[in-house]
Amino acid sequence: MSISLKTPAEIEKMRVAGRLAAEVLDYIAPFVVPGVTTGELDRLCHEFMEDVQGCIPAPLNYAPPGYKPYPKATCISVNHQVCHGVPGDRQLKNGDVLNIDITTIKDGYHGDTSRMFQVGDASIQAKRLCEVTFECLWLGIAQVKPGGHLGDIGQAIQAHAENAGYSVVREFCGHGIGAQFHEDPQVVHYGKAGTGIQLRPNMIFTIEPMINAGKAAIRELADGWTIVTKDHSLSAQWEHTVLVTESGFEVLTLSAGARLPPEWIEGLGRS
Ligand code: MF3
Ligand code: CO
Ligand code: CO
Repeated sequence: MSISLKTPAEIEKMRVAGRLAAEVLDYIAPFVVPGVTTGELDRLCHEFMEDVQGCIPAPLNYAPPGYKPYPKATCISVNHQVCHGVPGDRQLKNGDVLNIDITTIKDGYHGDTSRMFQVGDASIQAKRLCEVTFECLWLGIAQVKPGGHLGDIGQAIQAHAENAGYSVVREFCGHGIGAQFHEDPQVVHYGKAGTGIQLRPNMIFTIEPMINAGKAAIRELADGWTIVTKDHSLSAQWEHTVLVTESGFEVLTLSAGARLPPEWIEGLGRS
């Protein structure tokens, strides 16, 4: 597959799909409380996407080569789960931290975004991991501009994570996105500035760093989907879908409830 450059009409559809995905996260936030099950959160998101937004949840029955069809509408990854957590009977309890990852399909185009949530009050350590991972996402986004390289994004993320004493998951990465859920290029969250393909206007891809408090190694559970840290250390992830513009970037997965980037991050077009 090669990297597609989106047309203005496609970009407009990606804006809609992206905003809808972010609005699912806004919607679900108040339901993330002690005692709720991840299956219940998935059901609520699923109904909201289908009945309120008129979207298709992209994960449901998604089956890339070598995988069995994904059984749910969302991915919910709790504590040491890295990504692709399959919602079910697990009850959330005070202090849990979790990632909810939403991918919508609207009018044939995908929007993909995830955020971390805490149940009640999380530990200082868990909060710090979630914060640093959020900073990693935005440090990566700040690198997006025409003529920049994919490696600029990876280096910015890796440096910040490792400076904090954390590690970057290698096996999963950001991705081009459009009419397909996962397109070229692969956007890895580590690397060297100036390496990798050059960014061009109208590319659209996700940035979605997975950062572990302990070692980087991961393992897949017997369900064939859920990924956990091998050392059972906490893991966090945040994701946005990003358009390369003529002058920099546009984040397509913002909404009223989306968190703004920290003030100290430069290169985000604020002054
Ligand atoms: N939303 C995930 C991503 O950011 C992919 C989930 S694939 C699924 O790329 F099948 F697990 F849903
Ligand atoms: Co993604
Ligand atoms: Co996602």
